[in-house]
Amino acid sequence: MKVMVLTVSDRSFRGEREDKSGPLLVGILQASGWEVVSIQIVPDDQPDIEDVLRKWADSSEVDVILTTGGTGFSPRDCTPEATRNVVNRIAPGIAEAMRLASLKITPHAMLSRAVAGIRGKTLIVNLPGSPKAAKENLEVILPALPHAVQLLSGDPDAEAGHYPQTLKKHI
Ligand code: MTE
Repeated sequence: MKVMVLTVSDRSFRGEREDKSGPLLVGILQASGWEVVSIQIVPDDQPDIEDVLRKWADSSEVDVILTTGGTGFSPRDCTPEATRNVVNRIAPGIAEAMRLASLKITPHAMLSRAVAGIRGKTLIVNLPGSPKAAKENLEVILPALPHAVQLLSGDPDAEAGHYPQTLKKHI
């Protein structure tokens, strides 16, 4: 399973703040068996974000694109708008699950406007920008990502993955 990680941050793009979230996500993904094929930093500019998302999703070299940053209320935050513009189908359950789990950690979780959606066969998921928030949110969705990728690929065996391991022996 192949993943690309896009950090969205004006300050990291200008070199004024080290990007800690991107590398942290890469480490977690690799430890979970994912192949990280690209990482990049873009400023909080909607056209720039959309360009990278389109280019990556249409490259056929990626199953999942994770963005980190730009999901909040700051005037420049526009990652959800960029994502919504490039996806064909919204996957609301992913963002709902992240906010639900994150609300148990901090009430500020409701300030993330993150969205998730599908462009072609690629799933795009917004994560918040701080390393702590990005990690916590990724950990919520990681268990569901392999099955998401299997379904997106059109794998005829994907149906079997709908059932928890404990039920499999009965069906
Ligand atoms: N989710 C978790 N799990 N943990 C956090 O610390 N921080 C929140 C929220 N989601 C947070 C979280 C905060 S403070 C903000 S402002 C929003 O994510 C949006 O973050 P972003 O603007 O960096 O994308």
